[in-house]
Amino acid sequence: MKDSNFLKEHNAKSLWHPMAHPGDSLANPPAIITSAQGVKITDVDGHEVVDAVGGLWNVNLGFSCQPVKDAIAAQLDVLPYYSTFRGTTNDQVIQLAEELRKFFAPDGLTRAFFTSGGSDSVETALRLARQYHKIRGEAGRTKFLSLKKGYHGTHMGGASVNGNANFRTQYEPLLPGCFQIPAPYTYRNPFNETDPERLAQLCLQALEDEIAFQGAGTIAAFIMEPILGAGGVIPPHESFMPGVREICSKNGILLIADEVITAFGRTGSWTGSRHWGVQPDMMATAKAITNGYFPFGAVMIADHMTETFEKDTTGKAAIGHGYTYSGHPVGAAAALACLEETLKLNVPENAAARGTQLHQGLLALQQKYELIGDVRGGHGLMSALELVSDRATKAPVDKKTIGKLQEVAYEAGAMVRVSGPNIILSPPLVLSEAEAATILHALDAGFAAVS
Ligand SMILES: Cc1ncc(COP(=O)(O)O)c(C=O)c1O
Repeated sequence: MKDSNFLKEHNAKSLWHPMAHPGDSLANPPAIITSAQGVKITDVDGHEVVDAVGGLWNVNLGFSCQPVKDAIAAQLDVLPYYSTFRGTTNDQVIQLAEELRKFFAPDGLTRAFFTSGGSDSVETALRLARQYHKIRGEAGRTKFLSLKKGYHGTHMGGASVNGNANFRTQYEPLLPGCFQIPAPYTYRNPFNETDPERLAQLCLQALEDEIAFQGAGTIAAFIMEPILGAGGVIPPHESFMPGVREICSKNGILLIADEVITAFGRTGSWTGSRHWGVQPDMMATAKAITNGYFPFGAVMIADHMTETFEKDTTGKAAIGHGYTYSGHPVGAAAALACLEETLKLNVPENAAARGTQLHQGLLALQQKYELIGDVRGGHGLMSALELVSDRATKAPVDKKTIGKLQEVAYEAGAMVRVSGPNIILSPPLVLSEAEAATILHALDAGFAAVS
């Protein structure tokens, strides 16, 4: 490794960072992380903190998951790459598909299409949705509906169904035929409704209204995160996703669950859809499928959709889509080891317990600090604090204050993520009680410094 002076001097000079202004990265160089153990990361100065971001919602089993590391190393020696495009496959991906089929059986999902990450998975699901309708003779079903505040990655299709202007405006025009309805976000919504159940019903009515306006026969799919993540951790009322399922089924619209962050235990259930008792038609997964150690993803497809594709005789079901790295043997080997470890550790159990601990701790911080307008979470290890400069007007906090808070929390022992006015927490699911307490203590120190 180059010495720390070299790294600091060149930090952000010859690369542009995702989700950052290049000028800002130069003015405020990012933290340089050089090693990690368990759920802790260490920076170039040797400062060690609990990673309350969990990599990027993906390092669910922490940074020291030896079985996944061993599987990657062993596979690199035996077969470092082979394609799964028509005519060839590899042994790892066949085994993985069988294991995923077992894992996702309770969700009604029995086929996998492999990708290189979350945005790829979303794109794949959107494309397969259109193709499904075309094979069935409903070529007019091309539109997509989604939620405001939703995040679905950054490919053109995914950005088009995103519900946040930050990922859209500079890249417009996006895909035509994509429409967003209000999210079940009690703190801010166009209905001024604070009751989660009533708000869920209003959002469902908005969905029905939009479907009637567009015409059900023009809509291919509705895509949603079971709990909105990057948009600021917005758990809907328990009636919401089942309500969406019912409306989609009634109107012949496919339901795509974007579980890039919620699959594999984060919500305290094995999948976000299962958390709400819903079976989607497709599920986009990635991230924790390899514990973040290898870029990989899978779109899982409902059993009831398989006949349409597999029994087609017109040729329309030929899949004209795929990635060089679809079914990468190293990724598949990593995913196989990761799934085994995830099941062995029964991670949803700890995610639920530590999630409750964090949520209670955040509610206590809200009692102490005026700056905290809203606390969201309570479903596993995904929580957010929305900061306001004035609780009455809900005016968002300024960038400088939240930046300072993050800095002090880091010095006090925890890496937390700042996204707009939100502090987002998504630590590894193997977090201990003491490590959760460290996160809360570090946040407390951060708030104390800016209050
Ligand atoms: C719900 C959701 N969908 C899609 C994506 C995109 O995944 P990736 O960044 O791996 O392309 C993300 C990333 O955070 C996500 O949270």
